[in-house]
Amino acid sequence: MGDRNWWKATLHQGKNPFDGLEGEKPPGYWQSVGGWNSVFRDVVQSEKPREIVEVGTWIGRSAVEMSSIQRKLGIDESVTVCVDTWLGYPDWREWEGDRVIWKHQFFESLRIENGFPRLYDTFAKAIVFHELEEFIVPFPATSTQAYKWMKARDVRPDLIYIDGDHSEIQTYEDMKNYYDLLPSGKLMFGDDYDDPTWGGVTRAVDRFVKDRGIVVDFFKDDNRKYKRYWMIRKN
Ligand SMILES: C[S@@+](CC[C@H](N)C(=O)[O-])C[C@H]1O[C@@H](n2cnc3c(N)ncnc32)[C@H](O)[C@@H]1O
Repeated sequence: MGDRNWWKATLHQGKNPFDGLEGEKPPGYWQSVGGWNSVFRDVVQSEKPREIVEVGTWIGRSAVEMSSIQRKLGIDESVTVCVDTWLGYPDWREWEGDRVIWKHQFFESLRIENGFPRLYDTFAKAIVFHELEEFIVPFPATSTQAYKWMKARDVRPDLIYIDGDHSEIQTYEDMKNYYDLLPSGKLMFGDDYDDPTWGGVTRAVDRFVKDRGIVVDFFKDDNRKYKRYWMIRKN
């Protein structure tokens, strides 16, 4: 269990979920979130995880970064499992033409057609474009649904990255659930600590470590040099 064939067999009926798709260069806003930060390279190089679970993938920037390093390191049967609804946040729907560029870009990334987002299509084509279709497994579900599914099958990821819904309530829930799946000695990390736009993340992380009396560490953002990425190693 836990290798890429197991994931494909269970979630994708043994098929390649990217079958028949033409790769497509991701849009310009590909670089607008922090998925390229050196934290991903450093963490994957030091942890050498076979099985990564990412909660919140969007168009795939951080997943491509982590999976590429797994591939470069030649980790046998490596897999990056991407949990996402590919629906964005409801708030994004109100950001059409917003003067704040990243907000406008999040709206654009939804690619709404007949009321429904086509975000998954951008993600899937980006994975094929980067020739990572063998190594990345999409898990279209809410983070809570995916957690329950993994818990029932005793999935124990080697590395977990949390970057889904940034509200305090959901970030706390994701931290609690995915920490439960994490084996002792392994690392869980996440984005957007100490960012005023995403105050819910900071509050959830602070509360989670206080409630459990555990230690949190931070990794800096490459550009802005603030402690953006939180990290918790399970005892
Ligand atoms: C900030 S984006 C992820 C960015 C990505 N990790 C990167 O760095 O390239 C957040 C993503 O979380 C997803 N999301 C929001 N709430 C979710 C939930 N409850 N369960 C699963 N995915 C969720 C959204 O659809 C969106 O794609």
